[in-house]
Amino acid sequence: MRIVVIFIVIFIGQSEAVFKRWLPNTDFGNPKNWKSGRPPCGNDIVVIQEESPSVFLQINTTISELRLPKNGEIVLGPDSTLAFTNNADHSAGCLSSASEKEFNATYPSDWLDPKNWCSSDTETGGCINSPRLDSEMVPCRYDDVVFPKGHSYFVNLDIGFDLTVNTLKIAGKSFTSGTFSDFLGSREGRLMFPVPRTGSRSTMTIQRRSCNDPTGCACGNDDDKLLKHICSIQSPHCRLAQCKSSLQPTGSCCRICGGILTLTFASGFRLDKLRDGLKRNVLDGKDEYKNVVFMVSKTTTNKIQIVLSDENGLKSSDAAKQMEETLDNDIATGGFRYGVREVILETSQDSSKPVTPGAQKGSQESMPGGEIAGIVVGLFVVLLIGLLLAFFVYRRKTRGPDDLGFKVFDKMSFRNKFKKPQVEVPPSFGFRFGGPSTETIGTQGFDNPMYGSNPLENEKPLDLELMPTPPIDSEEQPTFDTERGFDNPLYDTAVQESFFSDPTSINSDALDLKQQATDNQNDTNA
Ligand SMILES: *[C@@H]1O[C@H](CO)[C@@H](O)[C@H](O)[C@H]1NC(C)=O
Ligand SMILES: *[C@@H]1O[C@H](CO)[C@@H](O)[C@H](O)[C@H]1NC(C)=O
Repeated sequence: MRIVVIFIVIFIGQSEAVFKRWLPNTDFGNPKNWKSGRPPCGNDIVVIQEESPSVFLQINTTISELRLPKNGEIVLGPDSTLAFTNNADHSAGCLSSASEKEFNATYPSDWLDPKNWCSSDTETGGCINSPRLDSEMVPCRYDDVVFPKGHSYFVNLDIGFDLTVNTLKIAGKSFTSGTFSDFLGSREGRLMFPVPRTGSRSTMTIQRRSCNDPTGCACGNDDDKLLKHICSIQSPHCRLAQCKSSLQPTGSCCRICGGILTLTFASGFRLDKLRDGLKRNVLDGKDEYKNVVFMVSKTTTNKIQIVLSDENGLKSSDAAKQMEETLDNDIATGGFRYGVREVILETSQDSSKPVTPGAQKGSQESMPGGEIAGIVVGLFVVLLIGLLLAFFVYRRKTRGPDDLGFKVFDKMSFRNKFKKPQVEVPPSFGFRFGGPSTETIGTQGFDNPMYGSNPLENEKPLDLELMPTPPIDSEEQPTFDTERGFDNPLYDTAVQESFFSDPTSINSDALDLKQQATDNQNDTNA
């Protein structure tokens, strides 16, 4: 598998793009979301304040009381139960004395905050910890953005930015610019991406065009306005640079010690070849450079920036100088190896020293014809193998099992009227967050083979009882009838009392809920 990946990186993938996965959630079971530092249990009183996001419940738990905001929701995940009891729970971690537990995730997390994202090679793979410019830690324009299934989210898109990503997938559903903008306008969309008090949310362009430029693709976030904002969040976390003339790389919020090479590239330039070549020639296997951070990227101004840094900048400046020499030598002999036209080096050890090459078109001596032909044939064969392997991997991928297997969000909405908590179950709430993507996407005239055709996706909903819902077609996106869907006369009656009274067991409670939902539908139908 690793061999395959290497092949793809070197010979096919010119892409700098990665998956960027959103990390924070507003799940009920996440200890970080509670002021007490642990989720409520036993006979705790749960307090969810006004302007809280959707709270996704994917655990079985008991509480004694639920205080809800006027406008909010708890989403019950499949196979999860929220039961009410007055009895203390003496199990580990759950204090026997009842207390108020306040939901703490009342502020949306920033889209432009680097710490909210994990970079990964695959949609669900582990986070890559390789060094990255701050601008590239939040989604770049060629990145695939993923909000995994089975969680609720609260995201601040901020005001006035024009954000661009390659793809955007929320709970298994892929969006286009159009469908995402519809989603933002929906009730669900506003709960997940709240509208700021002033101004309107940033726009999101989902370009669905991956990077296939061998010279690399600029992330796009080193644009002044965006970077300034990213750095307003990130700069407080910068460590003080331990050298006297520290440097500020493009796209970085912190000053660094070491060297920056700024390259102008010529025809034949390949970003991956430059990165791998320099790493192999200068850094690899050298013990003195083992702590040197090495980053190569294309800037928005179409230059290639190489950043080398370490604690005090001594070793990394050396390495930067060696790289400069390597490139200069290549330029002097025609630039055939790296395809670079000009190199400018700055180091934290001395002042900047622009280097302009002499004869760029000079000495055409180089390789004999036979050698060139050999290389061409060799490359062709390798490319062919790479393509075959990529095809093979792609086929396997599209047939793989659904990794999370999360199918249905059984949703209940609660609203607090007249101070007294009331539960309201909309007559129909067939919202499927991570819906059957093939059908869903199909009806929107968008069909991406990367995401579709998973046989499991066509499964029946898990719990039809809890979903008094219309057919699957209408479940595609949060299409809520906000006007009347949540005003339910049922709960002005005694049923509500039974929900909040002390149930003898979890199961009967769950059944109650189901019964209510069904009754409810019958009522409205009648
Ligand atoms: C509650 O939220 C605040 C602000 O977001 C945060 O500083 C604090 O650490 C959170 N408390 C816990 C226990 O997570
Ligand atoms: C909750 O309890 C039910 C019934 O005991 C069980 O089937 C289900 O797996 C549990 N769910 C979770 C998230 O633990």
